[in-house]
Amino acid sequence: MSLSTVIYAEFTSSALATQAQPSTHTPEMPRFPFPDRPKLWGTAVSHYQVEGDDVCDWTRWEEAGRTRGEPCGQAVGTWDRYESDAGLALDAGANAFRFSVSWSRVEPREGHFDDIALERYRRLVDHLIAIGLEPCVTLFHYTHPLWFHGRTPWSSTASVERFRRFAARVAEALGAAVRFWLPLNEPLVFLLAGWFDGQIPPGITDAGTLRRVFDHLLAAHVAAAAAIRECVPHAAIGIAHNMMAFAPERRASFLDTLLAGAAHRCYNRSLIEAFATGRWDFILPPATRIRGRRDDLPRSLDVFGVNFYSRLHLRCPGTKRFIGEFAYRDATGAGLTDNGWEIVPEAFPALLEEAASAGFPLVVTENGLADANDRLRSRFLETHVEAMARANVPVHGYFHWSLLDNYEWLDGFGPKFGLYAVDRMTLLRTPRPSVETFRRLGEAFLGRSVD
Ligand code: FCB
Repeated sequence: MSLSTVIYAEFTSSALATQAQPSTHTPEMPRFPFPDRPKLWGTAVSHYQVEGDDVCDWTRWEEAGRTRGEPCGQAVGTWDRYESDAGLALDAGANAFRFSVSWSRVEPREGHFDDIALERYRRLVDHLIAIGLEPCVTLFHYTHPLWFHGRTPWSSTASVERFRRFAARVAEALGAAVRFWLPLNEPLVFLLAGWFDGQIPPGITDAGTLRRVFDHLLAAHVAAAAAIRECVPHAAIGIAHNMMAFAPERRASFLDTLLAGAAHRCYNRSLIEAFATGRWDFILPPATRIRGRRDDLPRSLDVFGVNFYSRLHLRCPGTKRFIGEFAYRDATGAGLTDNGWEIVPEAFPALLEEAASAGFPLVVTENGLADANDRLRSRFLETHVEAMARANVPVHGYFHWSLLDNYEWLDGFGPKFGLYAVDRMTLLRTPRPSVETFRRLGEAFLGRSVD
């Protein structure tokens, strides 16, 4: 990225920021928070990471040697254990359960829907309701059916209709019992890792298509939201946006500071502005301008979800090569997680406030850490929940990532994110001591009397 590009990025996004209006969304009755359950305290999982034996684009990615460690295989066997795993969330004091629906199971061949798979998710939803957990359903959590990239990749307009049709089928199958829906998990992360860096499927590195792919992802969100609302008029539609803190590696360095600011605007602000205004305009290094407009985007949303994990320290090596190292550092002494991520709850309030500036009620849709020995998890939970309370904006829900140790994408089964440890051989689940902390914090957060 050249310096002029960054300055240009600074300029365009601050120009956009001044145009940012509060959201135009004004349903007569807000769909969120739910009057009978104003606060959600839950755990989050995603289908591929826990279910097992799901053949999709990620399976091929593993076969091609593009991931580290073992293939996902049976994952942690949740497909056959959803009900008992939901019971573990309940035991941990949750009143909500975030999971995702596998597109490859539901539509294994283009246009052919598997009623047995849909019925399986329906049974899970019935069970969640029966035991008092609010289902929160994600529709896209990184994986695709095998046919998708060859037939209707995200660079094609047909992708939007395919996703809409999938969303409509799931909404019909699960019905009104599900009132919290997240059509997309982390669309920007998927754009960057799938289409820019080529790190995850479909593994493309084509800056020329990014603008179109992003348009289609947002159009797919809008189309899915409409399809869901058609079936479930009271549904609350959300987005799960990954937000990251960025800091200059050298506090006194103008260029490091500029770089951290540019990263923040591109990575954190772009999606917030898109949902707030229906317009987006940001630059990916070295010089890809991603710009678009979709007037129906603000109306398609009822809840803004934040996935927050860590902070990156950025160093600019010089004016010729602007992008330098991005590194995690233990800058405050709070420790690094098992996969080397900085623990930085102090950065959380500002990011939540930034997310709330879009004008939607806020939920933390993911937050957690890899910590096999559970040395840091209790403190992590306490400090992040405290930080959430310190933010100058109400936060209506918190979902911990994750309920269980699971398959962590490119890192295989290495990082242990679970409140419950899972033995990979026996699939036995064992609560880590921090489950107690999660339960205690949940009781305080929910003020149990309202639940
Ligand atoms: C998030 C992903 C989730 C998990 C966590 C650790 O960005 O949404 O699937 O991998 O990171």
